[in-house]
Amino acid sequence: MKENESQSPAIYLDNAATSWPKPPAVWAAMERCMRESAANPGRGSHAMAIRASRVLFEGRKSLARLFNIANPNDIAFAMNATHALNMALQGLLRPGDHVVSTTLEHNSIRRPLEALKRTRGIDVTYVPADAAGRLDPERVEAAVTPKTRLIAVSHGSNLLGSIVPVTDLGAIARRRGAKLLVDAAQTAGALPIDVESMGIDLLAFPGHKGLMGPQGTGGLYIHPELELEPLLYGGTGSRSESPDQPAARPDRYEAGTPNTPGIAGLTAGVEFVRAETVESIARKERSLTDTLLKGLWEIPGVAVLGPEPGEERTAVVSFTMEGVDPSETAFILDQQFNIAVRSGFHCTPLGHETAGTTNTGAVRASPGYFNTESEIVSFIEAVKEIRRAYPS
Ligand SMILES: Cc1ncc(COP(=O)(O)O)c(C=O)c1O
Repeated sequence: MKENESQSPAIYLDNAATSWPKPPAVWAAMERCMRESAANPGRGSHAMAIRASRVLFEGRKSLARLFNIANPNDIAFAMNATHALNMALQGLLRPGDHVVSTTLEHNSIRRPLEALKRTRGIDVTYVPADAAGRLDPERVEAAVTPKTRLIAVSHGSNLLGSIVPVTDLGAIARRRGAKLLVDAAQTAGALPIDVESMGIDLLAFPGHKGLMGPQGTGGLYIHPELELEPLLYGGTGSRSESPDQPAARPDRYEAGTPNTPGIAGLTAGVEFVRAETVESIARKERSLTDTLLKGLWEIPGVAVLGPEPGEERTAVVSFTMEGVDPSETAFILDQQFNIAVRSGFHCTPLGHETAGTTNTGAVRASPGYFNTESEIVSFIEAVKEIRRAYPS
């Protein structure tokens, strides 16, 4: 074991929090935008302002192609997935509405829902997933009532790695007259998403995880027939004479100067994903995850959370180690092995209740497209070494 003295981790396994590294084309696009196109988009008719508007439109077009969205203007940019989820939940829900959600949710769905229970008198049912994070769509349908306005779910659990059957939930929402909100924080860029065939009315996504863009980027797809009350009101550069927020999209949902350089980077990230293809990214991450799962399952005293090896899952592998606090494991991995993972509760106390790890939390290792098989093997060796140093 050696002390960590370098600037960046030797092995980065925290891609579920934010992906790293980013493709060089992402930094290059951001730098180019800062040098050539960083005027205020939509707020002027000079050449650089028009170039800045084009940066945003190119981003919308790339994202629309990735998610099979017919009209790029149905995508509103946001700061992150949390911002997009708040736009959706606060924009849609009214007093008396009922929401069906799940016990897999991240705080970025749960906290806005709990706040809306207090402030708007909405009602929420959290349908339990099993301890490995599998969600039965029949249980979701059984929770739907005539007042259910929304089914709100994360596509992939950020603790357990389980994948929610979104297409089945889309069919339930259609059949029962509800809308479907999908939190794609763990799946955008990592699993295929098609808003049409999956029946998604609202898709919230971060730009900084699987889409390989910078932090401070994300977005929300809003079905063309669905009207949301804006989360923010203010300047859009359009219809400035009116005191009312414009009706036209995307301006209606994008008050204030946007993160144009960030969106330039996000667009380069999305184009990288499209060029590599989501399918090949999913295959590579699946292979890394299988190696990780197999290695951890074989270590005595290590308990891996989530679906069994062989079942479908995202590249998220959480575990506990008998006799070692997860935060200590993560600390040793960082300080002595220069390996970055995340420990604690991962912003999902509901997920930890589901997994039965409320008292301990867990260590989460989340590989990304740029990890290698040999890095995963080194990680497993490090966990074994820690295990030997702390016999239970
Ligand atoms: C399932 C899930 N939803 C939402 C979020 C929040 O994403 P952001 O940090 O982009 O707001 C995360 C972040 O880890 C997540 O894993």
